[in-house]
This record gives sequence, structure tokens and C-alpha cells, in this order.
Amino acid sequence: MKCTAIAHANIAFIKYWGKKQDEYRIPYNDSLSLNISGAYTTTTVEVSPTYTEDVIGFIDAQSSESEINRVKKQVDLIRSKAKKPFFAKVLTQNSIPKGIGAASSASGFAALTLAASAAFMLKLSEKELTKIARLGSGSACRSIPDGFVLWHAGNSHDDSYAQSLHPHTYWDICDILVVVDNTMKKVSTTDGMDGVTTSPFFQQRLVSLPQRLQQLKQSLEDKDFSIFGHILESESYNMHAVMLTQEPSLLYWQPATVAALLKVRELRTKGILAFATIDAGPNVHVICQAKDETIVLDAMSSVSHKQLLVNYPAGAARLISDHLF
Ligand code: PMV
Repeated sequence: MKCTAIAHANIAFIKYWGKKQDEYRIPYNDSLSLNISGAYTTTTVEVSPTYTEDVIGFIDAQSSESEINRVKKQVDLIRSKAKKPFFAKVLTQNSIPKGIGAASSASGFAALTLAASAAFMLKLSEKELTKIARLGSGSACRSIPDGFVLWHAGNSHDDSYAQSLHPHTYWDICDILVVVDNTMKKVSTTDGMDGVTTSPFFQQRLVSLPQRLQQLKQSLEDKDFSIFGHILESESYNMHAVMLTQEPSLLYWQPATVAALLKVRELRTKGILAFATIDAGPNVHVICQAKDETIVLDAMSSVSHKQLLVNYPAGAARLISDHLF
């Protein structure tokens, strides 16, 4: 049986940074994200009684032993749930480089989970798929449902899952991703978030998050872009303040990151509603309304960058009939 899935990366507006339970990747807090059109992973999984081991490959990308082992672990988990004693061949292609802070582990584990479940003939609800994707990479659970997605932190494997709040067609916004560095980041999110509780700001962050999430959800309901943007930008700075003050301190930014952040502020002084958010990396996602795309794109092209990627809201992870092999 051969199955192929596509899943989009997501950009978090309320961030996940820190796990209260490591084994099942149960986060401290709920998070909210949007799937983005330009950053996605395609994965083909073939399960066959003729294979004598799992074979994992990436098209156009180097992969470390630990990455391969993480993929093998996920395949193993799905195989044991399906109760099928067969090995699999897995081939993966990313639309943009891995490890640049554009959440390729999210799209990667979402696509892998969907393709492998189908190839092992495991029938799962969307909620179940989000839970299994979470075991591969926390934020991957948010790349399974459509559009604007809430990950309920929960307290156990059973109640930590993601669901769509609004489909990708809900709101005409765009995310201009300013790639200032396209090399692999040095500290992975898994290692980075281990130190989260050492930040003196972390408890304060946890206390303030429920209200911030509630306000962001309300601004989404109201389609109030100004409030939405202010909350998502201050949330990003809040998470980075925690990262900076952890032990050891994490500084993912580069000079060009700061230049992009300043450019976004300059746009706002000119009356353009553009807001910045950054995940665990140096690259800046500039969120604006679709009507301002050209003006924001022009402004961002004046700061130092390797690539500018324009993203629109994207749909759920899905099976497709074009296989990679
Ligand atoms: O799921 P991970 O290990 O890729 O962690 C994602 C962490 C952030 O991107 C920094 C925040 C988030 O919620 O996506």
C-alpha cells in the first residue's frame, strides 16, 4: 500500500514554548496558529511485506541520524497501532529548507502521520491524527486541521489535541516570510524549550497567556486586524523574552532579524497595519491584510534577506494521488 500526504507548516500567533510532560509532548499552554500556503511537506509512505527494514529518505536535503531516528520512531508507533508487522519506505520533500524556523518539523510530522496511517490502513479521526502527530513534534498537531487552529494543551495524551477554529478561507490575510538565514538552526526547539522554566519571566508568561489567547480569539471572531496584529506581535516578543532569559540563554535573532522588525514598525508609522512574529529562528513572519501585500512586500524587500516567501492561509493536511516514488 502506497500513500502520499501534503501538510502545510503553521505560524503560531499564540506560541508553544515548553512542555509540562516530555514523553507525550504535553505543552504548558494552549496555542493558536495558521497554516501557511508556501511552506509545506509532501511525504510518500509505502508499506510492503517485501521490505526488510524501514528506509527513510529526503529529497534535496541532508538529514542527521537523529532526524532519521525520529521519523523511524513515528513509523514504528503507527505500525504498532495498526498491528501490521510490515516495514515501510518513506520519502519526504519540503518546499523550503528544514530547520530555518519555518516549522518544517510541523508540516513534516503532520504529512508523515497522515501518509503512514493511510499506508498502514489505520482509520483515524482528525482528532486522533492530531494526537499522534503531536508525538512526533508538538506543533505538528496544528498542521493537521484546516486554517486557524487551536491546540488544547490538555493534561494527558488523550486530551491534548488540535482543532480548526476557522477554515483557511475565513480571512484574507497574508504572511510574508522574510528568510534572513536559510541554514539549519544550532539549537533545536526540543533542546531549546527544555530550559524554559529557568527564565524568571516564565511563570508570568503562563499567568498572562489565557487572557491573551481569549483576546486573540475574539479579534479573530471580530476580524479586527489591528487588535489581532498587536496581540500576535506582543506574544512573539513575550516568548522571545523567555528564550533570552533562559539558562542557557537562547538568541535566535541576527542583525537582519532586527532590521526586519524595525521595518515593520516603520510601516505602522505610515499607517500600514503590518505585524511581526518569529518562531525559534532568525526569520520574520510579517502578517498583513491581503490588500496591503504589495506595499509590505516592497518594504520588506529593502531589508537584507535570502528569500521572501508570500504565504496565504492554507487548508488541512490531505492525501493526494501523486506519489514521490
Ligand atoms: O513543535 P516544535 O518542536 O517545532 O516547537 C515549536 C515552537 C515554536 O515554533 C517556537 C512555537 C510554536 O508554537 O510553533
